[in-house]
Amino acid sequence: MSSHLEGATASNPRFAPPMDFAAQAVAGREIQEQASADRLAFWEKQSRDLLHWDTPFTRVLDWSTPPFARWFDDGELNVAYNCLDRHVEAGNGDRIALHFEGEPGDSRSLTYAELTSEVKRVANVLEGLGVGPGDRVAIYLPMIPEAIASLLAVARLGAIHSVVFGGFSADSLRARIDDAGAKVVITADGGYRKGRASALKPAVDQALADRGNGEQGTVEHVLVVRRTGQEVEWNAGRDVWWHDVVPAEPATHEARAFPAENPLFILYTSGTTGKPKGILHTSGGYLTQAAFTHKNVFDLRPENDVYWCSADIGWITGHSYVVYGPLANGATQVIYEGTPDHPEPGRWWDVVEKYGVTIFYTAPTAVRSFMKQGRSIPQSRDLSSLRLLGSVGEPINPEAWKWFRDVIGAGVTPIVDTWWQTETGAIMISALPGITDLKPGSAQVPIPGISVAVVDETGEPVARGDGGLLVATEPWPSMLRGIWGDPERFVETYWKMFADRGYYFAGDGARLDEDGDVWLLGRVDDVMNVSGHRLSTAEIESALVAHPATAEAAVVGANDETTGQAVVAFVILKESYLKENTAEGLAGELRGWVGEQIGPIARPRDVYIVGELPKTRSGKIMRRLLRDVAEGREVGDTQTLADTSVMSVITAQVR
Ligand code: WTA
Repeated sequence: MSSHLEGATASNPRFAPPMDFAAQAVAGREIQEQASADRLAFWEKQSRDLLHWDTPFTRVLDWSTPPFARWFDDGELNVAYNCLDRHVEAGNGDRIALHFEGEPGDSRSLTYAELTSEVKRVANVLEGLGVGPGDRVAIYLPMIPEAIASLLAVARLGAIHSVVFGGFSADSLRARIDDAGAKVVITADGGYRKGRASALKPAVDQALADRGNGEQGTVEHVLVVRRTGQEVEWNAGRDVWWHDVVPAEPATHEARAFPAENPLFILYTSGTTGKPKGILHTSGGYLTQAAFTHKNVFDLRPENDVYWCSADIGWITGHSYVVYGPLANGATQVIYEGTPDHPEPGRWWDVVEKYGVTIFYTAPTAVRSFMKQGRSIPQSRDLSSLRLLGSVGEPINPEAWKWFRDVIGAGVTPIVDTWWQTETGAIMISALPGITDLKPGSAQVPIPGISVAVVDETGEPVARGDGGLLVATEPWPSMLRGIWGDPERFVETYWKMFADRGYYFAGDGARLDEDGDVWLLGRVDDVMNVSGHRLSTAEIESALVAHPATAEAAVVGANDETTGQAVVAFVILKESYLKENTAEGLAGELRGWVGEQIGPIARPRDVYIVGELPKTRSGKIMRRLLRDVAEGREVGDTQTLADTSVMSVITAQVR
């Protein structure tokens, strides 16, 4: 049983690992000691122990041309072989790899042997469609087993996948397909969400439609999974049904070894400008850290555990902790297609009970929405199989942390609050559940082999208790290797700030407490975090000004009880539109418009129609002041405004 620790106070409680948990934990103190004794020797050992190398590497890290790192670079491996075939060859072919639960209630379980065969068939199909090493394949699918098979089939061929979240619009999809120069798109007719069949194929058709400017897209084929059975338009010659071609292929396919630094995937994420960045990850280092963290942070015992990460494969969490980490470790996991509250609010807890989930990894925003629905819903299910909970995406506030542990974790399960980013590829800061005394609200300690610091703008460490900027002070195996097609932006965004010291700048504010534990304080740039998803203010602003009624727009992230932050837009309309429409009508239209342009996650919670925006003398919008208004606070210092009366006008217009 756990206990409160000595020295902990009511406002700063700490929870020791349950004794029986600590006694059997996968990660003990020795890995911390090994890592601090020799960081590179530590990663070398992890990589050799956790992965199969066809050609073992002799070099661990080449950091001779920072910030371009090369890890294990003379080694060769096949990522898909590591996630599949080797488990079958080791006699674990009958172990379940995936328990799939569809939203309408259909379910399927695939063993490692079955998933391996499926991936081999898909790899054969993709080869037949002309996909080879280095080619890009865009994946736009719901959370179904075919999605996971698709990523692995692309990886098996040494090609590069670019997964686009199924909630993104045709425009967002097109921008990502174009930027990556994808040759093939894998999609489905649709997927189930909120009790409805929601179409995907039309967005692909629209994204690939003739541009009317004579420009040829790069996509040659579209492989289409039938999931919902809804009507689709068909482009003969380009489109291929999955069920026509995949089962017809033999389940044999030789996995070729590729160099450790062979690109594995591109994943687009929001930055401070309107254009999403294609974060590039490679193979050997990425897989090493994904597997290491999945095993040690989640205390994984692949023979016994049933692991469930609720993230969609459209996000980095789905890549590292649904696909690569768990499968490299031979875990049994649950994947769930739909929304948490369909057909009723207890759906997730039914899934936990049905499969006997032991390890559950989710986002604070989900925890907060369950809190709102009340504890009687989870309490009417048997959740006694759970032994470890995890959180990712944004800081988990202590109330939500405690509720999660008390109501979902029977008051005893450890919670690992994991800090990391699309760019870091895998977990960087987290408790290790068998050895760390947990502190609700703090992500706590860098994992073994990772070095972080909280510094001021000159790179000097700040005093304990003071806020500063979070940096990684040493390269790490799963670090991004670049931004697709834009090496300058890569250097500029992450490395220029502390170029003299070679630190990676994460874009997050943080502070260290008296014990040296890390507390995340949110983004320090114009990136918002809505329900754990990254959105850029600039991207939403450019969508808003693309509407004919908009003259000017400013977007801020305002605190929100459920989603962490919410998108709040301030819009100046063109005179002519205001004459013909009501402000409320246009505000509603603009909300919908942003949803169509980018995707429903970007839809503003509030659109305020205003007459002016607060600007400095040099014309920069002061978002800080708009955030004060959006959060209902007294407006802060307005001295640097060109016109100091603007804020009272805006405040009056908003109220
Ligand atoms: C935030 C998601 C506090 C942070 C894996 C980071 C967190 C951004 C945490 C990355 C956490 C993620 N505590 N903040 N445990 N985890 N963040 O790229 O601001 O979608 O920079 O990766 O989410 O979001 P991304």
